[in-house]
Order: sequence, then C-alpha cells, then structure tokens
Amino acid sequence: MDFLGFQLRNNLFVAPMAGVTDRPFRQLCKKLGAGLAVSEMVTSNSLLYGSAKTRRRADHQGEVDPVSVQIAGADPVMMAQAAKYNADNGAQIIDINMGCPAKKICNVMAGSALMQNEPLVARILCAVVAAVPDTPVTLKIRTGWNRDHRNAPGIARIAEESGIRAIAIHGRTRADQYMGLAEYDTIAMVKSQVKIPVIANGDIDSPQKARFVLDYTGADGVMIGRAAQGRPWLFREIEHFLNTGDMMAPPQVAEIHRILRDHLADLYAFYGEETGVRIARKHISWYTKGLAGAAHFRHAMNQMPGIDQQLAATDEFFLGHAAANECLQHEHRSDEHVEEMRAA
Ligand SMILES: Cc1cc2nc3c(=O)[nH]c(=O)nc-3n(C[C@H](O)[C@H](O)[C@H](O)COP(=O)(O)O)c2cc1C
Repeated sequence: MDFLGFQLRNNLFVAPMAGVTDRPFRQLCKKLGAGLAVSEMVTSNSLLYGSAKTRRRADHQGEVDPVSVQIAGADPVMMAQAAKYNADNGAQIIDINMGCPAKKICNVMAGSALMQNEPLVARILCAVVAAVPDTPVTLKIRTGWNRDHRNAPGIARIAEESGIRAIAIHGRTRADQYMGLAEYDTIAMVKSQVKIPVIANGDIDSPQKARFVLDYTGADGVMIGRAAQGRPWLFREIEHFLNTGDMMAPPQVAEIHRILRDHLADLYAFYGEETGVRIARKHISWYTKGLAGAAHFRHAMNQMPGIDQQLAATDEFFLGHAAANECLQHEHRSDEHVEEMRAA
C-alpha cells in the first residue's frame, strides 16, 4: 500500500499505546505482519526532552521505515516545537493525538478533550503542519466528545483543510472511554466526506472483524491496539485472510514460545534488567492470558526480580504446554477468574 509516499506491506496499523508500543513491540508487530506502527506518544512539554523515558521513546534505531511518532498537547507553539524536534530526530511521520481519554492528557485539554474546541484544533493542526513542511502529519481522533456531539466529520474536514495527510478514528466518543462497543457508522461518514486516507480503529480483534470493518466503513486501513497485546501474530493472520479469504492455522506453542523469547530479549536489551523485567511482566501476562495454569504462573512470575528467573519460569510454563499440546488450549475466562481468585 502506498501511504503518504511510503510503501507499506499492507494497510494494517498498530495503534499507539502508551507503555505498550515501545520499539521492541513495534518491531515485533512489523515483523509479524503490521504495515505501520505508531510509536507511543511523546509529550510536547519540552522540559521533558532530556528525561530517560522521553529519550527512550524517541529511540528508533533499527526500526523498519516509516517511523511515525505521536505527539500530544494543547498549545500550538509547543506542539509545533515537538513536531520539529521529533522530525529532526528521525520521525518520518508526525501523528497528533486527539484520541486519548487519559486524565493525565485531558486535564490539560489535550488528547480527545481537544475535540470540543474546533478553532483550537485548527490552530494546532496548522501550526504543526507548518513546522514540519517535509514531514507528513497525521491525526488520531475519536468520534466526538460524547454521544450527543459526534463531531468527527467536522474535525476531519478541518484536518484536511489544515494539511493533515491521513486520519485514524477510534469508533468511540471520549465519554465512552473504553465502554460499550465501538461503532463504525461515524467512521464510514468521515470516509465519505474527506479525500485523505481514513484508518478505522476500535475493537478489531480477528481477521473477520478486520474484513467487516474495512467493508462497512470503506476505510483505507485498520488500526489494532489491545487485540495485539500478547498476540502480535494477529497482523499476519489478518493479512493472510484479507489476501486469500482463508484463515491461517494458529501458531503452535513452540513458535509462540520462540516469539515471546525474542520479545523478552529485546525488552531486556532496550530497558536494561530492572525495568526490562518489570515491563516484560505485563507482556508475559498477555501472552499467557486464558491458558491453563496461567494465573498461578503469573502470580509466581510477578515476584521474580531478575532476567534469569523470569526466563526460566517462562520456559517451564511454555515447555509444559508444548508437551501437552501442539496448539495452545485456552481456558474459559470464568475458569481463569476462579483460578486468579484462588491464587489471591
Ligand atoms: C494501554 C493503552 C494506551 C493507549 N495509549 C494511547 C496513546 O498514547 N495515544 C493514542 O492516541 N491512543 C492511545 N490508546 C488508544 C489506542 O490507540 C486505540 O485507539 C484504542 O485502544 C482502541 O483500539 P483497540 O480496540 O484496537 O484497542 C491507548 C490504548 C491503550 C489500551
């Protein structure tokens, strides 16, 4: 797919997720079939440029092109500076976050709260586009700020007029947070009203759902967040289904074990032992969600402070599953819940 002058292997996008879509996870998703992965957001507060966290977020070494970096904030001048800073430091696409309901962001009227103030949206978008004339700027929004104010079509038109090159829409309002189900009618409406590429997002968790959302909205691509946590191979499964109409066989336990092992090695190398082990815990939990014995394993694994113990426990868990079955056998959620309650 041609996207803003970049040749992507497909139209499947990894959603930006703070604390999740770090460089190791983005690289893994791209290796396993994603066309593009938007990085975690980088604050527009320039005072934080020097912090280790911000520096790590801006580290794109070895990343598959194009590198898309998300920025968030409500001040047009600071947003323009943040865009320029990131473009100067390797970002090939700048993505503006107006889709995040997080308190930390919205208290300062950024993220999805901005959608309430269309004149300010226009000023921010124009300032950012002007600050990085050689770098395409994209925008991520929700459908509106509540169900009575689904103004995504208006914002999308402002975006197009401001020089934004593509728009991703999460099919929920800000007030919805993550409750209920995403709706795709507003996304379809936006798609019918603008010429720039539209990427549909929200609750896409299977190849069939991706096909449905693409057909229903007419969107140019789909963006996937939570469903890829602990399941980065979802992208190749969707890619295969969209190309052939056939479902790919699920990965075998041995392959999942290998993928997770590589992922952990990347996390340790990227963050160092202490932070790496901590960040790895949540990924290991996602990879093992719903599997027999997972709650007990996670409880024990969360107490382990070092790389060696974490790896040994992970190996033991997966080798046990591989010996029992070629493919992973998921327990019903209620079974897992009971097990979790027992372990607590
Ligand atoms: C843990 C987490 C962190 C997120 N962080 C961001 C973020 O930094 N910027 C953003 O635009 N959206 C963020 N989102 C929203 C996702 O990009 C996406 O729009 C949302 O999860 C819906 O897609 P999904 O149903 O495929 O997960 C975050 C979501 C989650 C679950």
